[in-house]
Order: sequence, then C-alpha cells, then structure tokens
Amino acid sequence: MTSTAAHEAPVAGEDAVAEIEIRNLTMKYGDTVAVNDLDLDMNSGEMLVLLGPSGCGKTSTMRSIVGLETPSQGVIRIAGKTMFDSAKGVSVPPDKRGIGMVFQSYAIWPHKTVFQNVAFPLRMQRLPRTEIRERTEEMLETVGLKDEGSRGASLLSGGQMQRVALARSLVMRPRVLLLDEPLSNLDAKLRDRLRFELKDIQQQIGVTSVYVTHDQSEALALADRVAVMREGEVMQLGEPMSLYDRPQTRFVADFLGVTNLFPGQVASSDGGVNTVRLDGCDTEVAAVADRPAGAEVSVCVRPDAVTIDDPAAPRSGGNRFSGVVHASSFLGTHVRYRIDVDDAVSFDVVTFSRRKIFARGDTVTVSVDPADVRLLSE
Ligand SMILES: Nc1ncnc2c1ncn2[C@@H]1O[C@H](COP(=O)(O)OP(=O)(O)OP(=O)(O)O)[C@@H](O)[C@H]1O
Ligand SMILES: [Mg+2]
Repeated sequence: MTSTAAHEAPVAGEDAVAEIEIRNLTMKYGDTVAVNDLDLDMNSGEMLVLLGPSGCGKTSTMRSIVGLETPSQGVIRIAGKTMFDSAKGVSVPPDKRGIGMVFQSYAIWPHKTVFQNVAFPLRMQRLPRTEIRERTEEMLETVGLKDEGSRGASLLSGGQMQRVALARSLVMRPRVLLLDEPLSNLDAKLRDRLRFELKDIQQQIGVTSVYVTHDQSEALALADRVAVMREGEVMQLGEPMSLYDRPQTRFVADFLGVTNLFPGQVASSDGGVNTVRLDGCDTEVAAVADRPAGAEVSVCVRPDAVTIDDPAAPRSGGNRFSGVVHASSFLGTHVRYRIDVDDAVSFDVVTFSRRKIFARGDTVTVSVDPADVRLLSE
C-alpha cells in the first residue's frame, strides 16, 4: 500500500487547510476498480462538480466520502479530522461525518408533511421542540417552501420534493453537502431554474459541496471548480472557464462540448506558430503552439471562437477558410451553424450576432484566430 505520510502536513503557504482532503483513494467492487488512486482537495465553501460519463466513478467517490462504501486504500479527511484511513484502520460511521446528502431519487416520506420531513433529522437528535420549529421554519424559508410546511409531501411537484430533500439535508447544518445528480429527474426548464436556486442557497449557507453530474452545461453553470473524471481518475481539475478554454486532452474537450476536434499532423513549426495539416484533406490550420514537425495532434477550436462572414467581407490575418453552410439554427439568444470547409472538415460555429443570418447553401468565410486554436496530444 502507498504510504500516506507525505500528505499529512498542510501545504506550506496556504492559509486554509482543505475542507475535504482525499488522498490515494481506491475503491473496488470485486474486481471492478471504481475509484483509482484519487487525490482531490475541496476548499471551504466551494462547490466542486464531479463531471464524467456514466460509470466513471462519481457516485462511488461520493459514497466513499460519506462512508457508505469502504475503500480498499486511501485517506479521507474533513476539516482536518480523519474520517477514513485504510492504513490506520480508521472509519468514522456515516452519521458521525457531518455530511448531508441529496440524491437523484427524492427519498422523502410521502405520508409526512413537508415540515415533518424537514424536521425529521432534528427529532432524531431529540432537540428541544422550539429549536426544531425554528430551524425547520428557517430552512423551509431558505428553500422557498415557507408556505408549504403543512402540505403532504406526496402532493408536491418534483422540483418541490427535491427542495424538501435539500432542506432536510441542510437542517442538520452539515459541514459538507453531497449532491448526486439531484436535478436529473426534473424537466429541462425546472432543472435550469433549480440550478440557480441551488447555487444561491449553497452560497448563502456557505456549505462546502460536491455535486455530481454528467451534464456539462450543468457543471459549467454551477461549479466553482470542475473535476472531469474518467475511469475512476480525475483527468483535469479547474475553474469552469479555464477548463473550457484550455482543455488538456481530447477527452476533456469533447466532454465539455468543444465540438471542433480534428486530428492532424504538425507540418511546420515557426516562431511559436505551428501549421497543422488535418487528416484526410488539404486544409491547414495555424495555431499558436510549439510542437515539433511531424507530431500527431488534435486541433481543438471552441464553436464560439469561430467567426463567419460574407466571402466579400475584409478580414486580416489568421486562419481563413471558404465554406458552405450545411445547417443553420436560430436558438433565440444565439445562432448555431455547421459549416463544411471540405469533405473531411466541418466547423461548429456559435454566433451571438444577428446582423446577418446565413442560410443552408450560402458560401461563407470562416475565420479562427491562431491564438484560439489549441493542439491536444491525447
Ligand atoms: N454496486 C455495484 N456493484 C458492482 N459494481 C458497481 C456497483 N456500483 C457501481 N459499480 C461499478 O463501478 C464503476 C463506477 O460506478 P459509479 O456508480 O461510481 O459511476 P458513476 O460515475 O456514478 O456513473 P453514473 O453517471 O451512471 O451514475 C462502474 O464500472 C460500475 O459498473
Ligand atoms: Mg452515479
């Protein structure tokens, strides 16, 4: 087993010790490795989103943090206290870890009222009646259910039920809140709205939260930081914008919805600019990068970094390609295009300009600043 001693001391120069520290965490179901030697730090009050495809180990990570699964290796500390340490044989029971949880299924009691559902954990603690009432009412107000306390929980909408579940997990004032796809059973519109409400409540309370989703737009909208996972490991960790702008691998780019990914080979390297010849065609793309000639790369361009113009419009420098509009969809706030540049290359383009909307079959010019072109190795 790997020694964890090297990780015991707080990182020098950081004023705050991480609220949740995960070191060398491995969790298996029989021979299946669900979490693979994971290291992760969560800062106090932040919302960290675990994003990744089905089966990549998101739920397993959460279940390990809360103590519903026993990892085969590793250390989990919350607020400096060891909750799990395989080497030392420490495993604090789930109800003593100070963690609140909300899952995809509503898991509320339909035969109880909203108030009774939320008050339940406090009753279990045998707190004084007035304190239970005060804290429950305060929490109902926070989640926007102040006037619904006496209603039967079975009469609520999906969104309201999920807010009851949230209130019930927060009423205990946990240090840490774990949310595993809490909105995925709701329709798109409600999901969008509750996403904002959830973020608002989380910030108001300042509870350190881990949020699991496989929906990239949800991750980008909610997260202070996103950890993109694959096969039990974190592939890349960062703030939403930096992750979106600077994915390090094809997998991360693809998962974040960067749709322009073209394999190619570096044809030349000159003064910090690479020219890449795309596979299966004659198209060459310039990128601000410094790879050796001959390197196999994926050219990665964000749909919002591409501009399209009339072929007649004057534009200087950069990558310019002639293309034909293959598809054009007006989406209210923006227009999305697919532009065929040649047989092997089509660009996805998002534009917020309504100055001119191009139609299928129009000939256009597609431009990309070489500084917006990233070359990825994997
Ligand atoms: N109870 C179980 N028994 C055996 N294998 C399991 C069990 N639960 C999960 N696994 C396996 O562990 C791996 C990680 O699963 P996990 O549920 O953590 O993924 P996930 O990222 O939460 O996926 P999803 O997005 O589908 O919820 C997968 O290969 C899965 O098949
Ligand atoms: Mg899951």
